[in-house]
Amino acid sequence: MYLNRNYADTSSNQSKALRRPARGPARRSTCAMLALCLAMLSSACAQVPPAAEESYKPTPGQVGKDSVWVPSPPAVVEHMLDIAKVTREDFVMDLGSGDGRNVIAAGKRGARAVGVEFNPDLVGLSNRNAARQGVADRASFVQGDMFAADISQATVLALFLLTDNLRRLTPKFLDMKPGSRIVVNYFGIDGWRPDFEEEMKADCEPWCVIKFYIVPAKVAGKWRLADGVLELEQRFQEVFGGYTVNGVKTDITNARMDGERIRFGIGGVQYAGRVLGNRMQGERSGGASGAWTAQR
Ligand SMILES: C[S@@+](CC[C@H](N)C(=O)[O-])C[C@H]1O[C@@H](n2cnc3c(N)ncnc32)[C@H](O)[C@@H]1O
Repeated sequence: MYLNRNYADTSSNQSKALRRPARGPARRSTCAMLALCLAMLSSACAQVPPAAEESYKPTPGQVGKDSVWVPSPPAVVEHMLDIAKVTREDFVMDLGSGDGRNVIAAGKRGARAVGVEFNPDLVGLSNRNAARQGVADRASFVQGDMFAADISQATVLALFLLTDNLRRLTPKFLDMKPGSRIVVNYFGIDGWRPDFEEEMKADCEPWCVIKFYIVPAKVAGKWRLADGVLELEQRFQEVFGGYTVNGVKTDITNARMDGERIRFGIGGVQYAGRVLGNRMQGERSGGASGAWTAQR
Protein backbone atom coordinates (compact mmCIF):
# COMPACT_ATOMS: atom_id res chain seq x y z
CA MET A 1 0.00 0.00 0.00
CA TYR A 2 1.63 3.23 -1.02
CA LEU A 3 -0.76 5.75 0.43
CA ASN A 4 -0.28 7.33 3.80
CA ARG A 5 -3.43 7.08 5.83
CA ASN A 6 -3.87 8.62 9.21
CA TYR A 7 -7.27 7.44 10.21
CA ALA A 8 -6.37 6.00 13.60
CA ASP A 9 -6.71 9.00 15.93
CA THR A 10 -9.70 10.66 14.38
CA SER A 11 -11.68 7.50 13.84
CA SER A 12 -11.04 6.23 17.36
CA ASN A 13 -12.07 9.64 18.81
CA GLN A 14 -15.22 9.53 16.75
CA SER A 15 -15.88 5.97 17.84
CA LYS A 16 -15.56 7.10 21.46
CA ALA A 17 -17.99 9.95 20.79
CA LEU A 18 -20.44 7.50 19.28
CA ARG A 19 -20.14 5.22 22.32
CA ARG A 20 -20.69 8.11 24.77
CA PRO A 21 -24.03 7.61 26.49
CA ALA A 22 -26.71 10.16 25.68
CA ARG A 23 -27.47 12.60 28.49
CA GLY A 24 -30.82 14.08 29.50
CA PRO A 25 -34.05 12.97 31.08
CA ALA A 26 -34.63 9.25 30.89
CA ARG A 27 -38.28 9.81 30.22
CA ARG A 28 -38.11 10.75 26.57
CA SER A 29 -40.55 8.86 24.47
CA THR A 30 -39.20 5.85 22.62
CA CYS A 31 -39.96 7.48 19.31
CA ALA A 32 -38.10 10.66 20.17
CA MET A 33 -35.10 8.66 21.41
CA LEU A 34 -35.11 6.59 18.28
CA ALA A 35 -35.28 9.69 16.07
CA LEU A 36 -32.43 11.30 18.01
CA CYS A 37 -30.29 8.20 17.76
CA LEU A 38 -30.91 7.92 14.04
CA ALA A 39 -30.09 11.60 13.52
CA MET A 40 -26.86 11.28 15.54
CA LEU A 41 -25.90 8.15 13.74
CA SER A 42 -26.49 9.58 10.28
CA SER A 43 -24.65 12.82 11.10
CA ALA A 44 -21.74 10.89 12.60
CA CYS A 45 -21.56 8.61 9.56
CA ALA A 46 -21.60 11.61 7.22
CA GLN A 47 -18.71 13.18 9.11
CA VAL A 48 -16.31 10.25 9.31
CA PRO A 49 -14.93 10.27 5.76
CA PRO A 50 -14.30 14.06 5.51
CA ALA A 51 -12.61 14.11 8.92
CA ALA A 52 -10.38 11.21 7.90
CA GLU A 53 -9.58 12.84 4.55
CA GLU A 54 -8.80 16.16 6.20
CA SER A 55 -5.90 14.52 7.99
CA TYR A 56 -4.33 13.16 4.79
CA LYS A 57 -0.87 14.60 4.27
CA PRO A 58 1.24 13.32 1.37
CA THR A 59 4.93 12.71 1.95
CA PRO A 60 7.42 14.00 -0.62
CA GLY A 61 8.89 10.96 -2.35
CA GLN A 62 5.90 8.73 -1.74
CA VAL A 63 5.42 6.16 -4.45
CA GLY A 64 2.91 6.84 -7.20
CA LYS A 65 1.82 4.81 -10.20
CA ASP A 66 4.47 5.92 -12.71
CA SER A 67 6.19 8.64 -10.70
CA VAL A 68 6.66 9.47 -7.05
CA TRP A 69 4.99 12.56 -5.66
CA VAL A 70 7.38 15.45 -5.26
CA PRO A 71 5.81 18.89 -5.30
CA SER A 72 7.07 21.68 -7.53
CA PRO A 73 8.40 24.54 -5.39
CA PRO A 74 5.84 27.40 -5.20
CA ALA A 75 8.15 29.88 -6.97
CA VAL A 76 8.57 27.39 -9.83
CA VAL A 77 4.82 26.89 -10.12
CA GLU A 78 4.27 30.62 -10.58
CA HIS A 79 7.21 31.09 -12.92
CA MET A 80 6.13 28.14 -15.09
CA LEU A 81 2.79 29.89 -15.61
CA ASP A 82 4.58 33.21 -16.27
CA ILE A 83 6.77 31.59 -18.92
CA ALA A 84 3.75 29.91 -20.54
CA LYS A 85 1.96 33.31 -20.36
CA VAL A 86 -1.18 31.74 -18.92
CA THR A 87 -4.25 33.97 -19.13
CA ARG A 88 -7.96 33.56 -18.48
CA GLU A 89 -8.30 32.45 -22.12
CA ASP A 90 -6.31 29.28 -21.43
CA PHE A 91 -7.29 25.74 -20.61
CA VAL A 92 -4.44 24.42 -18.49
CA MET A 93 -3.86 20.76 -17.66
CA ASP A 94 -1.44 19.04 -15.32
CA LEU A 95 -0.86 15.31 -15.77
CA GLY A 96 0.11 13.84 -12.43
CA SER A 97 -1.25 16.87 -10.63
CA GLY A 98 -0.19 15.87 -7.12
CA ASP A 99 -1.74 18.17 -4.51
CA GLY A 100 -3.16 20.37 -7.28
CA ARG A 101 -0.79 23.31 -6.98
CA ASN A 102 -0.21 23.94 -10.72
CA VAL A 103 -3.91 23.69 -11.52
CA ILE A 104 -4.95 25.88 -8.59
CA ALA A 105 -2.32 28.51 -9.50
CA ALA A 106 -3.64 28.53 -13.09
CA GLY A 107 -7.20 28.88 -11.77
CA LYS A 108 -6.10 31.88 -9.73
CA ARG A 109 -4.98 33.49 -12.98
CA GLY A 110 -8.52 33.06 -14.31
CA ALA A 111 -7.75 30.07 -16.53
CA ARG A 112 -9.88 26.95 -16.60
CA ALA A 113 -7.66 24.15 -15.34
CA VAL A 114 -7.88 20.40 -14.85
CA GLY A 115 -5.51 18.06 -13.07
CA VAL A 116 -5.31 14.33 -13.74
CA GLU A 117 -3.96 12.37 -10.82
CA PHE A 118 -3.91 8.62 -10.19
CA ASN A 119 -3.81 8.74 -6.40
CA PRO A 120 -7.39 9.31 -5.14
CA ASP A 121 -6.18 10.76 -1.84
CA LEU A 122 -4.23 13.43 -3.73
CA VAL A 123 -7.32 14.13 -5.85
CA GLY A 124 -9.37 14.63 -2.67
CA LEU A 125 -6.69 16.88 -1.22
CA SER A 126 -6.53 18.89 -4.46
CA ASN A 127 -10.28 19.42 -4.48
CA ARG A 128 -10.18 20.61 -0.88
CA ASN A 129 -7.22 22.91 -1.63
CA ALA A 130 -9.06 24.38 -4.63
CA ALA A 131 -12.18 25.00 -2.53
CA ARG A 132 -10.16 26.57 0.30
CA GLN A 133 -8.40 28.85 -2.16
CA GLY A 134 -11.64 29.91 -3.83
CA VAL A 135 -11.01 28.47 -7.31
CA ALA A 136 -13.11 25.30 -7.25
CA ASP A 137 -15.23 26.72 -10.07
CA ARG A 138 -12.20 26.88 -12.39
CA ALA A 139 -9.79 24.27 -11.04
CA SER A 140 -10.95 20.66 -11.00
CA PHE A 141 -9.37 17.25 -10.67
CA VAL A 142 -9.94 13.88 -12.24
CA GLN A 143 -8.77 10.61 -10.76
CA GLY A 144 -7.25 8.59 -13.57
CA ASP A 145 -4.26 7.53 -15.57
CA MET A 146 -2.53 10.42 -17.27
CA PHE A 147 -1.63 8.25 -20.27
CA ALA A 148 -5.34 7.80 -21.00
CA ALA A 149 -6.23 11.47 -20.51
CA ASP A 150 -7.66 13.54 -23.33
CA ILE A 151 -5.34 16.55 -23.62
CA SER A 152 -6.50 17.64 -27.06
CA GLN A 153 -8.37 20.69 -25.76
CA ALA A 154 -5.61 21.96 -23.48
CA THR A 155 -3.80 25.12 -24.57
CA VAL A 156 -1.17 24.75 -21.84
CA LEU A 157 0.30 21.74 -20.06
CA ALA A 158 2.13 22.46 -16.78
CA LEU A 159 3.98 19.29 -15.77
CA PHE A 160 6.52 17.80 -13.43
CA LEU A 161 7.16 14.24 -14.59
CA LEU A 162 10.01 11.84 -15.19
CA THR A 163 11.74 11.67 -18.57
CA ASP A 164 10.21 8.23 -19.21
CA ASN A 165 6.71 9.57 -18.57
CA LEU A 166 7.33 12.53 -20.89
CA ARG A 167 8.71 10.23 -23.59
CA ARG A 168 5.56 8.10 -23.45
CA LEU A 169 3.38 11.20 -23.65
CA THR A 170 5.28 12.82 -26.53
CA PRO A 171 3.05 11.49 -29.37
CA LYS A 172 0.06 12.99 -27.54
CA PHE A 173 1.92 16.28 -27.11
CA LEU A 174 2.56 16.43 -30.85
CA ASP A 175 -1.14 15.83 -31.57
CA MET A 176 -2.10 18.95 -29.62
CA LYS A 177 -3.17 22.02 -31.53
CA PRO A 178 -0.12 23.79 -33.01
CA GLY A 179 0.90 26.67 -30.78
CA SER A 180 -0.14 24.88 -27.57
CA ARG A 181 2.43 25.45 -24.84
CA ILE A 182 4.07 22.83 -22.66
CA VAL A 183 5.97 23.94 -19.61
CA VAL A 184 7.79 21.37 -17.51
CA ASN A 185 9.71 21.41 -14.29
CA TYR A 186 13.20 19.92 -14.35
CA PHE A 187 13.02 16.84 -16.61
CA GLY A 188 12.85 17.61 -20.31
CA ILE A 189 11.25 15.98 -23.32
CA ASP A 190 13.71 13.62 -25.00
CA GLY A 191 15.04 14.96 -28.31
CA TRP A 192 12.94 18.14 -28.19
CA ARG A 193 15.09 21.23 -27.72
CA PRO A 194 13.21 23.62 -25.41
CA ASP A 195 12.09 26.85 -27.04
CA PHE A 196 13.09 28.47 -23.75
CA GLU A 197 14.83 27.23 -20.62
CA GLU A 198 15.55 28.88 -17.30
CA GLU A 199 17.14 27.76 -14.07
CA MET A 200 15.68 29.59 -11.11
CA LYS A 201 18.29 30.51 -8.56
CA ALA A 202 16.35 32.75 -6.20
CA ASP A 203 13.47 31.59 -3.96
CA CYS A 204 13.91 28.04 -5.08
CA GLU A 205 15.02 24.77 -3.60
CA PRO A 206 15.72 21.64 -5.71
CA TRP A 207 13.77 20.99 -8.90
CA CYS A 208 14.04 24.51 -10.23
CA VAL A 209 14.76 24.24 -13.96
CA ILE A 210 11.89 25.25 -16.20
CA LYS A 211 11.67 24.11 -19.82
CA PHE A 212 9.20 25.52 -22.28
CA TYR A 213 8.04 23.99 -25.57
CA ILE A 214 5.65 25.18 -28.27
CA VAL A 215 3.81 22.43 -30.13
CA PRO A 216 4.74 22.78 -33.81
CA ALA A 217 2.45 22.15 -36.76
CA LYS A 218 3.29 18.95 -38.58
CA VAL A 219 4.97 19.83 -41.87
CA ALA A 220 6.90 16.72 -42.88
CA GLY A 221 6.21 15.64 -46.44
CA LYS A 222 6.15 16.92 -49.99
CA TRP A 223 4.70 20.32 -50.79
CA ARG A 224 4.07 21.87 -54.19
CA LEU A 225 5.61 25.35 -54.09
CA ALA A 226 5.65 27.59 -57.19
CA ASP A 227 7.32 25.55 -59.97
CA GLY A 228 8.94 22.98 -57.72
CA VAL A 229 8.60 20.49 -54.89
CA LEU A 230 9.54 21.36 -51.34
CA GLU A 231 10.37 18.22 -49.37
CA LEU A 232 10.49 18.66 -45.60
CA GLU A 233 11.68 16.53 -42.71
CA GLN A 234 10.85 17.55 -39.18
CA ARG A 235 12.25 16.97 -35.72
CA PHE A 236 9.93 18.84 -33.37
CA GLN A 237 10.38 22.54 -34.22
CA GLU A 238 13.44 21.89 -36.38
CA VAL A 239 12.89 21.47 -40.11
CA PHE A 240 15.25 20.26 -42.83
CA GLY A 241 14.85 19.56 -46.51
CA GLY A 242 15.25 20.72 -50.05
CA TYR A 243 13.50 22.43 -52.90
CA THR A 244 13.67 20.74 -56.29
CA VAL A 245 12.96 22.46 -59.59
CA ASN A 246 13.57 20.65 -62.87
CA GLY A 247 15.58 17.97 -61.10
CA VAL A 248 17.88 20.47 -59.37
CA LYS A 249 17.72 20.36 -55.58
CA THR A 250 18.63 23.27 -53.28
CA ASP A 251 18.87 22.67 -49.53
CA ILE A 252 16.63 24.93 -47.50
CA THR A 253 18.27 27.06 -44.77
CA ASN A 254 17.27 28.58 -41.41
CA ALA A 255 14.12 26.49 -41.31
CA ARG A 256 12.12 26.45 -38.11
CA MET A 257 8.61 26.12 -36.72
CA ASP A 258 7.02 28.30 -34.09
CA GLY A 259 3.62 26.73 -33.48
CA GLU A 260 1.80 27.05 -36.79
CA ARG A 261 4.33 29.55 -38.12
CA ILE A 262 7.08 28.39 -40.43
CA ARG A 263 10.14 30.08 -41.86
CA PHE A 264 12.83 28.85 -44.23
CA GLY A 265 15.21 30.13 -46.86
CA ILE A 266 15.73 29.00 -50.45
CA GLY A 267 18.76 30.58 -52.06
CA GLY A 268 18.65 34.21 -50.95
CA VAL A 269 14.88 34.27 -50.50
CA GLN A 270 13.30 34.07 -47.03
CA TYR A 271 9.89 32.49 -46.69
CA ALA A 272 7.70 33.17 -43.65
CA GLY A 273 4.17 31.93 -43.29
CA ARG A 274 1.55 29.84 -41.55
CA VAL A 275 0.67 26.19 -41.84
CA LEU A 276 -3.05 25.51 -42.11
CA GLY A 277 -3.37 21.74 -42.41
CA ASN A 278 -2.20 20.81 -45.90
CA ARG A 279 -1.74 24.39 -46.98
CA MET A 280 0.97 26.93 -46.21
CA GLN A 281 0.90 30.59 -47.09
CA GLY A 282 2.93 33.66 -46.35
CA GLU A 283 5.24 36.36 -47.59
CA ARG A 284 8.69 36.26 -49.18
CA SER A 285 11.53 38.66 -48.52
CA GLY A 286 15.17 39.02 -49.51
CA GLY A 287 15.91 38.17 -53.16
CA ALA A 288 12.17 38.16 -54.01
CA SER A 289 9.04 39.54 -52.44
CA GLY A 290 5.31 38.91 -52.45
CA ALA A 291 2.92 36.20 -51.32
CA TRP A 292 3.62 32.47 -51.55
CA THR A 293 1.50 29.40 -51.07
CA ALA A 294 2.28 25.69 -50.91
CA GLN A 295 0.04 22.65 -50.97
CA ARG A 296 0.81 19.19 -49.55
C1 LIG B 1 6.51 14.64 -9.40
S1 LIG B 1 4.79 14.62 -8.92
C2 LIG B 1 4.27 16.20 -9.59
C3 LIG B 1 3.11 16.81 -8.88
C4 LIG B 1 2.64 18.18 -9.43
N1 LIG B 1 2.43 18.14 -10.85
C5 LIG B 1 3.64 19.26 -9.11
O1 LIG B 1 4.23 19.85 -10.03
O2 LIG B 1 3.79 19.56 -7.92
C6 LIG B 1 4.10 13.42 -10.06
C7 LIG B 1 2.66 13.02 -9.76
O3 LIG B 1 2.22 12.11 -10.77
C8 LIG B 1 1.32 11.18 -10.18
N2 LIG B 1 1.24 10.02 -11.09
C9 LIG B 1 2.16 9.04 -11.27
N3 LIG B 1 1.78 8.19 -12.24
C10 LIG B 1 0.57 8.64 -12.70
C11 LIG B 1 -0.33 8.19 -13.70
N4 LIG B 1 -0.07 7.13 -14.46
N5 LIG B 1 -1.46 8.90 -13.90
C12 LIG B 1 -1.74 10.00 -13.15
N6 LIG B 1 -0.92 10.46 -12.17
C13 LIG B 1 0.23 9.81 -11.95
C14 LIG B 1 1.93 10.92 -8.84
O4 LIG B 1 0.97 10.40 -7.94
C15 LIG B 1 2.43 12.33 -8.46
O5 LIG B 1 1.45 13.02 -7.74
